[in-house]
Amino acid sequence: MVAKTFKGLEDVLAKELEDLGAQEVQTKNRMVEFNGDKELMYRANYHLRTALRVLKPIAEFKAKNENELYEEVQKIDWDEIFSLKQTFAIDSVVNSEFFSHSKYVALKMKDAIVDQFRDKYKKRPFVETENSDIRINLHIAHDVCTILLDSSGESLHRRGYRTKATKAPLNEVLAAGMILISGWDKKSPLIDPMCGSGTILIEAAMMANGIPPGMYREKFGFENWKDFDADLFEEIVEEEYEECNDVYVYGSDVSEIAIRIAKRNIANASLSKKINLLIKPIEGYEPPSKNGVVVTNPPYGERIKKNEINAFYKVLGDKFKQSYNGYNIWMISSNNDAIKHVGLQHSHKMVLFNGPLECRYLKYEIYEGSKKMIPSE
Ligand SMILES: C[S@@+](CC[C@H](N)C(=O)[O-])C[C@H]1O[C@@H](n2cnc3c(N)ncnc32)[C@H](O)[C@@H]1O
Repeated sequence: MVAKTFKGLEDVLAKELEDLGAQEVQTKNRMVEFNGDKELMYRANYHLRTALRVLKPIAEFKAKNENELYEEVQKIDWDEIFSLKQTFAIDSVVNSEFFSHSKYVALKMKDAIVDQFRDKYKKRPFVETENSDIRINLHIAHDVCTILLDSSGESLHRRGYRTKATKAPLNEVLAAGMILISGWDKKSPLIDPMCGSGTILIEAAMMANGIPPGMYREKFGFENWKDFDADLFEEIVEEEYEECNDVYVYGSDVSEIAIRIAKRNIANASLSKKINLLIKPIEGYEPPSKNGVVVTNPPYGERIKKNEINAFYKVLGDKFKQSYNGYNIWMISSNNDAIKHVGLQHSHKMVLFNGPLECRYLKYEIYEGSKKMIPSE
């Protein structure tokens, strides 16, 4: 199978898959390949925090033109996979000297599926691009065509708890990845002092309390497949998770509206008792204990003047140095110029993408005497 993710999160996703019992786990670009059975596929969808979708290959063949593709697609028994009454959609990715238009190959594949049903039943299933019952992926690399079924349906970042968002919410999968990369022990306090709609806080509290990320979702793609094993999936859903009560997750934000939205989302995830919220600017917020982890996503300054955002990042650096002794601070930002004004020596740096924005994800270890640098350094 293939689990897709964001660039930079492949290793954490591979670790998650290994922990779930996946075999032959191999990281590739923005995806992880692995082996497993139907149960693992259900588990992967329900438990993976850093996967966007899980795909199951159903056929691989060679084709050098549209007619060969049509013939091969017709060899698959589609009636075994879904029924005439269900809608379907095809996503195609083509990287081939033999096929130039991904839309055209998808159309040819659609014809092959529809014709097969029509020959058998004199009726055809219909295509629906949004919210289709069945999603099929076609990948063509040179003359190798792979057909995969999308077992997730709607992207797995849609956990189901976020009903409202502030202006620049983090993707849930990215937030979970950032927390996992930070190596947070799930016992010491985790703080996001610029929490916006609360994504990092919710993902952290779900992790610490062992709440599966799929718990609040209404549906997964595999539930529409003809081979869906409802009993098996129910067993997975009903497994007890270990509740852990002494975890502290703290959030604050200068914006009253942001905190109101965060409150709503946190309540949707039934985590109101596990997350402490405050309306406060970071300048006036004091961390609750001596040691802990900060995972945060400050503004990148796209809507404000350059000198203002640089000055704000300097304030952040000064505040971290002054009040966060004993903390590991993890911060994501696309603003490389502003990052220099934090003026602290990072001990770790990696590239992550927040949507289209290439970001740096940095770690600052704050301890007595940690270096405060001047921006030019
Ligand atoms: C990029 S958003 C964070 C989005 C958040 N990660 C989410 O998923 O919704 C940045 C947040 O920083 C907050 N912010 C800006 N200046 C601040 C300050 N001085 N103190 C605290 N929060 C601040 C904004 O109100 C905004 O909610």
